[in-house]
Amino acid sequence: MNTPLKLFTLGAGLALTAALTHAAPAAENWENQCTKCHGADGKGQTKVGKKLNLKDYSDAKVQAEMKDADMTKAITAGVFVDGKEKMKAFKDELSADEIKDLVAYVRKFKG
Ligand code: HEC
Repeated sequence: MNTPLKLFTLGAGLALTAALTHAAPAAENWENQCTKCHGADGKGQTKVGKKLNLKDYSDAKVQAEMKDADMTKAITAGVFVDGKEKMKAFKDELSADEIKDLVAYVRKFKG
């Protein structure tokens, strides 16, 4: 194989890798990782969500009481009550940008 062709192949391979590992849109991440507990509508009215007594993100009051920084922290590092894990940390599965997008996504459930 001559050099230019080799370089082309390498470039195509890198482009493919980038396409495969690209950040998923927030709606997709929410659907795959969060709806089990928080529900597709963010109301937390799932079987697990009811048990965990989840907040209703469509409630303006709940939204007003939440700070972006706390939301980011919850998604990144998880939620622990009395040392018990209530929500797992997503820092290994989601990038900082994906987590930022999810915070914005959760905000949209209001109203
Ligand atoms: C195993 C169930 C479960 C899953 C899955 C889950 N959560 Fe949670 N989440 C909780 C619990 C429990 C709390 C704490 C109680 C509450 O705030 O309603 C919480 C709290 C939160 C909070 C509120 C933090 C605050 O400041 O009040 C946000 C934001 C959040 N989750 C986002 C997400 C996102 C985004 C995902 C998906 C990447 C996710 N959660 C997946 C159970 C879960």
